Amino acid sequence: MRRRHSKNTLLFLIVIAVVALLGWYLIYALEGPIRASLLRLEAGNIASVDNLLRILRLVLLAILAYVSVRALNFLIFGLFRLRRGFDAPTLIQNVFSIVAFTLLFFLIFSFIFPEANLGALFTTSAIFGVILGLALQDTLGNFFAGISLQADRPFQVGDVVSVGDQKHTGVIEEISWRAIKIRTFQNHVVLINNSTAAKEPIEVCPRDNLNARLVFFNTLYTDSPAKTIHIVREAVREADNVSQKIAPIVRIRNLGDNSVDYELKYWLDDYAKYNDTDALVRQRIWYAFKRNGLTFAFPTRTLHIERQGRHPRERDGGAVVERLSAVDIFAPLSPEETAMLAGAAVRHVFAPGEIVIRAGEPGSSMFVVHHGRVSVQISDNGRPRTVATLKEGDFFGEMALFTGEPRTANVVAVEETEVLEIGHGAMKKVFDTNPDLVESLSFIMSERRAGLASQFDSGPSSEIESAGILSAIKRFFGIS
Ligand code: CMP
Repeated sequence: MRRRHSKNTLLFLIVIAVVALLGWYLIYALEGPIRASLLRLEAGNIASVDNLLRILRLVLLAILAYVSVRALNFLIFGLFRLRRGFDAPTLIQNVFSIVAFTLLFFLIFSFIFPEANLGALFTTSAIFGVILGLALQDTLGNFFAGISLQADRPFQVGDVVSVGDQKHTGVIEEISWRAIKIRTFQNHVVLINNSTAAKEPIEVCPRDNLNARLVFFNTLYTDSPAKTIHIVREAVREADNVSQKIAPIVRIRNLGDNSVDYELKYWLDDYAKYNDTDALVRQRIWYAFKRNGLTFAFPTRTLHIERQGRHPRERDGGAVVERLSAVDIFAPLSPEETAMLAGAAVRHVFAPGEIVIRAGEPGSSMFVVHHGRVSVQISDNGRPRTVATLKEGDFFGEMALFTGEPRTANVVAVEETEVLEIGHGAMKKVFDTNPDLVESLSFIMSERRAGLASQFDSGPSSEIESAGILSAIKRFFGIS
C-alpha cells in the first residue's frame, strides 16, 4: 500500500517536472513569437509583457523547486528509514520541505526580479504575519509544541504511549505538525494535539527498550511459596514474546485475607503485544497450577474439625513411620519402637536458604530429612563452606543431642525441606531398649567429626574418636 503510494507520488513529480521543463524550453525557444502576440494583446505595453514573461518563469522555476525539494525529501528520509528501520516524524519532514522551499523560492525570486525590494516585502509580510499569527494561534501553538516535542525526542513512531489522565494507550503511528496519532489496542485512532500532549503526563514504553509487565495471581495458604514461585517462573519463561534476556521474577506481594497474593514480573520482546502476552502468561499459570496441584484462592472460610483422641501428628503418621524405618540407624528398632518414635516426631517445613540449626547453639534434638535436601556448612574465614549435603532419609543434629555439646555446624535447607525433629526423651526410650544402637551411632558420629576435622587439617583418627564418643553418649544418657 505504502509502496504504491510512493510510486504514484514519484510518477506525479516526474510528470510535473517534465511539464515545467517543457514550458521553460518553450518560453526560451519561442520567446520572440510569444512576445509579439502578448504585445498585440497588451496594446504595445513592453513593461507589462516583460513582467508577464518573468512571472511565467517564476511559476515554472517554483514548480521545479517544489519537485526538487520533494525529491530531496524523498532521498534523505528514505535513507533515514533504511538505516533506522522506521519513518522520521512527519513534522520534521514537513519543516524540512517548508524551509527548503522558502529559501529556494526567495533565491529564484531575487534572480528573476533583481530590482525587487525584499526588505519592503518582509515588512509587509511581517504585518501580515501578525494578523495571520493571531488568526492561527492554536494551529501555530500545535506547530511549535510539536517542534519542542521533537527536539526533546521523548518518543518515536512505534513506541507504546499512555497519554494524560484519560490514559489513551496505544502505538504512535504518526507525529505531525498538528497532532500525535495513536492507534489504540482496540484499533481506534486517537489524535492528541501537540499542545495538549506537551502539557499532559505521558508514559512512554520505547520500542527498543526491555519493558516489563506485572501479572497478579494468588494461591491458597496451604500451597508452598517456594514451590509456587518455582513452578510459575518455569511455566512462563519460555512463553512467546517473553524476553529470554531477563528471567521472570515471581514474588509474594501480600498475605491477604483469603490468599497468598503474588506478582509475576516479566519482560517483553515486543511491548506492543502485551495484551496477548499477559493472556498467554495467565494461561500458562493456570495449566501449571493444574499439573502441580496448586490452587487459586477465592474468598473462603475453612472449618477445622479436630477429632477427639486423634493427635494431629498421627494424621499423616504412616508416611513418617515409613520414613523413620528407612533410616539406617533405626533399622534395628521393632515396628512398635519406630511407631513410638514417629509419634514423638515433630514436623517442620523450611524455605530454601533457611537455617535449620545454627553452629554454636545448644541443641537437644536430632532431625531426619523427610522431604527435600539440606547442606551442612562450616564457616571458612567468615564464608560458608559445604561439607556434606543430606537427602531424604538422612539424619543430622545427633552430635549435640548425644553429647550435650554445642552444634558443630550450620544446617541449611537447599530447597523447600520438611524435617522430622526427635527429642532427647524419645531417643532415651529407644536407647534403653536398644543399647547396641549407641555403638552404631557413635561410629557414624566419629566419621562425621573426622570429616569436619579434615576441613581444618587436624583432628584425631576415627577409631579413637569413636571410643571417646561412645563413652560420652553413655554418660550423657546414663547408660551403663
Ligand atoms: P550437630 O553438631 O548437633 O549439629 C550440626 C550437625 O551437622 C551435626 O550435629 C551433624 O549431624 C551434622 N554434620 C556435621 N558434620 C557432618 C559431616 N561431615 N557429614 C554429615 N553431617 C555432618
